Amino acid sequence: MISLGSLANYIISSALYYCQGSPLLMLLFQVTCVAIEFLYSILSKFNFWTSPKAGIDQYVLDYKKMNNTLAEERFAIVTGANSGIGLETSKALALAGFHVIMACRNKKLAAEAISKLELETGLKTFEFIQLDLASFKSIDVFIDQYKKSYSKLHLLVNNAGLAFCPYSKTKDGIEMQFGTNHLGHFKLTNGLLDLIKASGRARIVVVSSLANYVGTFDKSLILEESRYNRIISYGISKLCNIMFANELARRLNGTGIAVNSLHPGSVNTNATKYLPDSLHGVIDVIKSLLLIGPIAGSLTSVKVALDPKLEGVTGKFFMNQEEATPLGEALDEQKCKDLWEFSEELIKKHST
Ligand SMILES: NC(=O)c1ccc[n+]([C@@H]2O[C@H](COP(=O)([O-])OP(=O)(O)OC[C@H]3O[C@@H](n4cnc5c(N)ncnc54)[C@H](OP(=O)(O)O)[C@@H]3O)[C@@H](O)[C@H]2O)c1
Repeated sequence: MISLGSLANYIISSALYYCQGSPLLMLLFQVTCVAIEFLYSILSKFNFWTSPKAGIDQYVLDYKKMNNTLAEERFAIVTGANSGIGLETSKALALAGFHVIMACRNKKLAAEAISKLELETGLKTFEFIQLDLASFKSIDVFIDQYKKSYSKLHLLVNNAGLAFCPYSKTKDGIEMQFGTNHLGHFKLTNGLLDLIKASGRARIVVVSSLANYVGTFDKSLILEESRYNRIISYGISKLCNIMFANELARRLNGTGIAVNSLHPGSVNTNATKYLPDSLHGVIDVIKSLLLIGPIAGSLTSVKVALDPKLEGVTGKFFMNQEEATPLGEALDEQKCKDLWEFSEELIKKHST
């Protein structure tokens, strides 16, 4: 039987096929996407098929069944693990048997999150290492610290992100949403790649967004403050997440490392905290009525991280736990290569 997620993805990819190329039709497509997303969220709340918790339990069980013969300890890093989708993803990964490094910028919030997870799971396999993705220095320190303790990394979940903030810059002078969501993870992933390669079968999971459909890889929109728009810039950063994942998947082809990206759904988390205060009343109503909870919001991340059926699947984009079609630019190999080179140049130029 076709799942609700497959149906929603089919409608979105068909509409995208006909609308790409026309700015007016793309606007219509974006509105349609939001409507389908909210409808999907509402319908999925009725748990017609299975509850989100049962879904997570199934992924954990399937993973354990396939990997119960593995003698070595397996390591996972989850960025932005102290709240929302990252917190629930960390919990599922620990239940699946991973030692989970929670890469968070705020020590106190991370400690609170670990206490909560330890209490809920009875496990002591959570560890905090500080990471601020808006600082190249912090990323370097994190990589050094991780490498001093561990020689392997089996799973990297690039989950952290901020959305819709007013214009600001990272510590290294790069627009904040692109700098944190894409460039910080680009630098982190590349810095950890030798350990990931040393781990044999490994996965890299990149949490993008439906907002990739409002993005475009346009350097001037990234570099020029006067062209900043908080929604478009978030979309650009999330499109770049997918472009990076796809290019990395190509570069790692044949190594046994899978790289996939995903949209987690519209999830009731702290993600809207940078929107203007005047909008918070309306946003809170929308969040409680129309958005799914963080456990449901972690299902696609957990599936892409653990599902044995996805063994060997790489360079794909997922939504609603099913494969989906991202914006055409994410499938354009030359553009993905251009983004890679642009990212390397920016890091070089802005490193002191
Ligand atoms: N919620 C949704 O509807 C939705 C939809 C599509 C995609 N997503 C994506 O899902 C991911 C998780 O978001 P969420 O919804 O769970 O929101 P969230 O609860 O706000 O979690 C975001 C996490 O990222 C961390 N973070 C932000 N900036 C960071 C930095 N410079 N360095 C390190 N960590 C940083 C946050 O840390 P602090 O707690 O210290 O701020 C927090 O732990 C994001 O990539 C987001 O773009 C969310």
